[in-house]
Amino acid sequence: MSGKALGPMRAWAAGALRAFWSLWALWALSAPWALGALLAGATIPAAAQQPQASYIGEKACLGCHSQENRHFADSLHAKMFRLNPRNAREERVCEACHGPGSLHAKDNANKELMVGFTRGWGTPVQTQNDMCMGCHQGGNRLHWPGSTHAGNQLACADCHNPMERVSLTSALVKPTINETCQTCHRQQRVEFNKRSHMPLPEGKMSCVDCHNPHGSSTRPLLKAESVNMLCTSCHAEKRGPMLWEHAPVRESCMNCHQPHGSNHEKLLVSARPQLCQQCHSPAVGHPGQFYNASQTAAAGSQLGGAPSPRTIGRSCQNCHSQVHGSNHPAGARLQR
Ligand code: HEC
Ligand code: HEC
Ligand code: HEC
Ligand code: HEC
Ligand code: HEC
Ligand code: HEC
Ligand code: HEC
Ligand code: HEC
Ligand code: HEC
Ligand code: HEC
Repeated sequence: MSGKALGPMRAWAAGALRAFWSLWALWALSAPWALGALLAGATIPAAAQQPQASYIGEKACLGCHSQENRHFADSLHAKMFRLNPRNAREERVCEACHGPGSLHAKDNANKELMVGFTRGWGTPVQTQNDMCMGCHQGGNRLHWPGSTHAGNQLACADCHNPMERVSLTSALVKPTINETCQTCHRQQRVEFNKRSHMPLPEGKMSCVDCHNPHGSSTRPLLKAESVNMLCTSCHAEKRGPMLWEHAPVRESCMNCHQPHGSNHEKLLVSARPQLCQQCHSPAVGHPGQFYNASQTAAAGSQLGGAPSPRTIGRSCQNCHSQVHGSNHPAGARLQR
């Protein structure tokens, strides 16, 4: 077929296809089952909303859910709500979180009659989270609305399981914070396994030392107003101000360091001297030829030549030792 004949053929086929789909759409939308499905997606569960559902008390729930209660009884919520309720909502125990249960008790196959927190139950995430936030908004969750996690439709129950005491504190879905985060963040788990890493796998810190999973005003979910304020909250000696500042340090620690882990020592983003040479032309201040790739300590010996003594080990830092800045009156070149 010639190229010319194809043009009109295509136009005709496209027109026919459009006509077909619009007819189909007309029919589909007028069909009662389709309207029903559209509306169902838009409604929120009856139990959270329906005025006719009423509270029936935890004894009624336990009649059918004694199994779930065996685990629940150990949890902090169970103890608080049963032994020391602060208000009428807490006294309702199960229904404080799951909503009024009278309709569910009569028809437990209809999933819309009860707020469920498992994926299979199908209660919209927003409805689930509203239940928890009724008691837990503000505080650490001030920035939850609009946070990356909320925006990605995470439910409180993705990280928390109040039905069973899996973790010592915070009612998490896994025994530790790091395991909880790493179920989704596999890439970060790999980073923390690199040769040089923050002492997180050793149990000396956790993701929440640096991040607030509930949201923050600083991306990405950082617990401080900037990367540098975060890092210097523990590494105070790097905070400055210094007499002689090194500009990239003031700007962001991330210019030279990885936050989680790196295959270069001291969490550096690249090996030295390349780290420094990314920004400093090798010819600056002194002859650049000592520091080209074949003359690093490693490459030099691989090629059979003698490694340049000036690039061995800490390389540039053999002379410019104070890379984070200097307080010495004569430290203008960061050398002391
Ligand atoms: C007459 C028995 C009965 C009573 C009473 C009852 N439930 Fe249920 N409930 C069930 C059954 C059966 C299911 C499972 C239905 C299914 O999987 O299709 C269920 C499911 C649930 C679920 C959803 C579980 C999931 O998969 O996420 C929740 C939550 C729940 N019930 C809470 C309650 C609460 C709270 C009360 C008390 C207000 C209560 N139930 C009272 C029988 C009962
Ligand atoms: C603090 C809020 C809270 C309270 C109080 C609470 N639940 Fe739950 N419930 C949840 C969450 C969250 C889940 C989802 C847990 C998960 O991911 O497995 C859940 C899950 C369930 C399930 C599904 C099966 C399971 O265990 O995962 C049932 C059934 C249930 N709850 C019943 C009850 C009953 C009965 C009570 C009272 C004895 C109760 N819940 C009290 C929050 C609560
Ligand atoms: C009726 C109020 C109420 C509701 C609803 C509620 N909580 Fe709580 N929650 C409390 C109280 C009270 C405590 C214990 C005291 C405190 O820390 O404020 C608590 C404690 C917690 C803790 C800390 C537990 C620990 O062991 O340190 C977490 C986590 C938590 N709630 C998560 C949730 C989640 C997730 C939901 C929704 C599924 C939820 N809560 C629903 C009242 C509530
Ligand atoms: C991405 C995981 C994650 C999500 C989603 C999440 N949390 Fe948490 N939450 C945690 C971790 C981790 C801790 C422990 C923090 C710590 O020890 O500093 C915690 C602690 C808490 C605590 C006890 C300490 C405090 O901050 O008061 C409450 C209450 C709580 N979460 C409620 C909620 C509620 C309500 C939601 C849903 C709006 C939610 N969480 C969503 C991970 C999460
Ligand atoms: C249920 C899955 C899930 C869990 C569990 C989870 N996250 Fe996330 N997290 C996500 C998703 C989805 C995103 C957004 C997409 C992305 O960047 O990968 C995200 C993004 C992030 C970001 C980047 C935020 C930004 O603004 O770019 C940080 C930081 C983060 N999570 C930290 C944590 C921490 C800390 C925990 C444990 C307390 C945790 N996450 C647990 C799913 C999860
Ligand atoms: C020492 C502090 C620190 C710890 C501990 C830490 N992070 Fe981070 N994380 C950061 C910083 C800083 C950034 C931002 C890096 C940047 O801006 O380039 C970051 C970025 C992220 C991002 C976004 C990555 C991207 O490419 O956008 C995720 C997701 C994340 N961290 C998850 C985690 C998880 C999960 C844990 C625990 C297993 C964890 N972090 C522990 C400091 C930390
Ligand atoms: C919660 C405290 C804390 C925060 C926040 C923190 N660190 Fe650390 N950092 C540590 C600890 C603890 C060590 C391990 C020290 C040791 O083992 O002697 C460490 C080690 C290091 C090391 C040396 C690693 C090695 O291989 O010797 C570097 C580099 C470093 N941190 C940079 C940073 C940067 C950059 C940030 C900001 C993203 C940061 N730190 C945030 C606590 C913290
Ligand atoms: C210009 C690159 C650069 C920047 C930017 C930088 N560092 Fe470093 N940092 C290094 C180098 C190179 C080393 C290795 C030092 C050595 O071997 O003596 C190091 C080592 C470290 C160490 C471990 C050894 C020690 O001196 O305690 C910590 C902690 C550290 N840096 C924290 C920070 C913090 C916090 C920031 C941000 C305020 C930061 N660094 C910004 C280059 C940099
Ligand atoms: C992200 C870019 C960047 C990296 C990486 C970097 N520097 Fe710098 N450095 C600068 C900037 C910008 C200045 C300020 C230059 C100026 O004021 O003219 C500076 C200044 C200096 C000075 C002082 C020069 C003067 O004129 O006062 C020395 C010495 C120095 N850097 C050494 C190093 C060493 C050694 C490394 C590797 C550990 C390194 N730099 C890594 C950007 C960088
Ligand atoms: C053998 C010691 C030594 C080594 C190794 C060394 N420098 Fe220098 N560097 C100096 C001295 C001395 C000066 C001061 C020269 C002057 O004042 O004119 C200097 C000056 C500088 C300056 C400032 C230049 C200017 O114009 O003010 C920069 C930037 C610099 N060096 C970067 C580096 C980098 C990057 C490396 C590694 C690739 C490095 N140096 C390795 C001794 C060294």
